Amino acid sequence: MTTDPDLHTSGTASPAAGAKGPGANGGAEPNAIEVDHIVKKYGDFAAVDDVSFSVKEEEIFGLLGPNGAGKSTLIRMMTTLIPITAGRAVIAGHDVATDPDDVRRVIGVIPQALTSDIDLSVEENLSIYAKLYDVPAKTRRAAIDELLELVDLTKWRHAQTKTLSGGMRRRLEIARGLVHSPRIFFLDEPTTGLDPVSRVAVWEMLTNIKSHRKLTILITTHYMDEADRLCDRIAIVDHGKLVALDNPLALKASVPGSNVIEAQFTNVPDDWEQRLRGMSGVTSVEHKGAAMYRILTADGSRTTTELVEKAVQAGVGLKSLSVQNTTLDDVFVHYTGRQLRDELVKSYSFVMPPRPGLQP
Ligand SMILES: Nc1ncnc2c1ncn2[C@@H]1O[C@H](COP(=O)(O)OP(=O)(O)OP(=O)(O)O)[C@@H](O)[C@H]1O
Ligand SMILES: [Mg+2]
Repeated sequence: MTTDPDLHTSGTASPAAGAKGPGANGGAEPNAIEVDHIVKKYGDFAAVDDVSFSVKEEEIFGLLGPNGAGKSTLIRMMTTLIPITAGRAVIAGHDVATDPDDVRRVIGVIPQALTSDIDLSVEENLSIYAKLYDVPAKTRRAAIDELLELVDLTKWRHAQTKTLSGGMRRRLEIARGLVHSPRIFFLDEPTTGLDPVSRVAVWEMLTNIKSHRKLTILITTHYMDEADRLCDRIAIVDHGKLVALDNPLALKASVPGSNVIEAQFTNVPDDWEQRLRGMSGVTSVEHKGAAMYRILTADGSRTTTELVEKAVQAGVGLKSLSVQNTTLDDVFVHYTGRQLRDELVKSYSFVMPPRPGLQP
């Protein structure tokens, strides 16, 4: 599978490489976020390795990458939680290294782990934060009412947080992160671990919030479908490096071939893969085992017709056939050389509890 060493970017999507901080976008509006050759090292290991990008005001910017890619580390540096080893991050015009307090005033942060207090009610969780952030008493109640409405938790305001489902608790934490009206909102995997219905609810809610207030959003996710649906631009991060950055359409267009054909055959001759490669429009063929082939093509309908004809002529049986448009999964494979999901599966390890009488 192809791995393109060159970072894919286009048009206004160019990363901030060489940018000199706010105003680097032609002297117009300062960017909400400027990250310039940022590095985070733990000993000799670079968790984030020379990453540069900028996020415009009111943009929804996605950081996409497998476990351990460096997404949370990037967020932690941008939100003043850990020091930067090298490079610079400027948030709403404030340098995180020299003006951390100014940065904290303009940002809201939803960390990866759930952090609301389960022994407090929904409303209490919000009002404690409002007080911490010095939201004036007279506007506090109205701010909380509005946010509860936006995250659809009004009727749960007096419920103890421990009685909420995972999705509702996430929505509460999103409301809590917005209680001081930040201009820039960082969310680290807000939907991981949620069921599909709750995931969709969180994304709809974020879109709804965005339509009500001026907000720039930086969000990390494992889920390609979400990134595709919600983000204006997406940065793909892998092993601490930025490997591609653009809007979802341009990213998909950057992968050679616009359709993906998956076909399973029976009785294939030895040179079958070779013959598939020779069909019109085909840019790559991957043999996935059990006579299953994944074919990228620039012309889905023409290649499919040819494929069926070829199979009939060669006496090859066709067990299954599907044709789809290129997805962000294909983009990820193209730029990193592997599947995002495979990486996820590999990264989980299961430890059996020790059993009496058995030596480890
Ligand atoms: N405090 C630390 N000390 C040493 N290594 C660390 C530390 N924090 C993170 N790392 C390492 O840095 C790399 C990036 O971690 P990070 O948490 O940023 O990844 P991530 O993309 O957020 O992953 P996930 O999807 O699992 O949340 C990983 O290899 C991780 O083990
Ligand atoms: Mg993380």
